[in-house]
Amino acid sequence: MKQTPKAFIFDLDGVITDTAEFHYLAWKKLAEELGITIDRQFNEQLKGISRMDSLERILALNPSLKDMPQKEKEKLAYQKNDHYVELIKTIKPENVLPGIEELFTKLKENHIKIAIGSASKNAQRVLELLGLTHYIDYIVDAAKVTKGKPDPETFTTAADYLNIPYGECVGLEDAAAGIEAINQAGMFSVGIGDKVHLSAADYIVSDTTLLDLDEILKQFNLE
Ligand code: BG6
Ligand code: MG
Repeated sequence: MKQTPKAFIFDLDGVITDTAEFHYLAWKKLAEELGITIDRQFNEQLKGISRMDSLERILALNPSLKDMPQKEKEKLAYQKNDHYVELIKTIKPENVLPGIEELFTKLKENHIKIAIGSASKNAQRVLELLGLTHYIDYIVDAAKVTKGKPDPETFTTAADYLNIPYGECVGLEDAAAGIEAINQAGMFSVGIGDKVHLSAADYIVSDTTLLDLDEILKQFNLE
């Protein structure tokens, strides 16, 4: 018998809007202030990862910074967030990635719940700037979990709140750590982006314009 999932849980940065690029630019600026160069290839491993874990990975590029006191690290994390907050000031509803609002509308028509599963402490603010909060049934952000992606807690917290079994949820992600989190939660994973980084996803599209509800439901039922 054909099954319809009861909830779609969306990552925010890089799925709903291109804030993944702003995170990259903010980290790049902070890294340069520390005399470290990072590129887009390195940035792939920062996607979906919490602010502090991302900082640790950058500091690991320079062994002399490894033993930096925790207070210093916290200062650097704030500094990165200041760069990021400056960049997101420009966000407007036009910055919702193509195909996302159409998908939200179809999900509503089909009585499928919409949740956000984000590692960002800025998630609520970004969703407000995008004018999307009225579509969303529940937001899980960094403040609501103890373990970040690739741990499944971000996705299971959303499903638990909505009271929906994990096997009836679809998770959508642009990061390898996020796909791992969805898979570990026992949900159907949709990867958006490059096949090389997202090969563990149950279904992959190269960009958000290709997110078609009928096709996702078809793939969900092939599982
Ligand atoms: C994730 C991003 O959504 O949030 C990461 O993919 C980012 O790049 C993380 O580091 C934490 O975000 P914030 O806004 O709390 O620093
Ligand atoms: Mg992301």
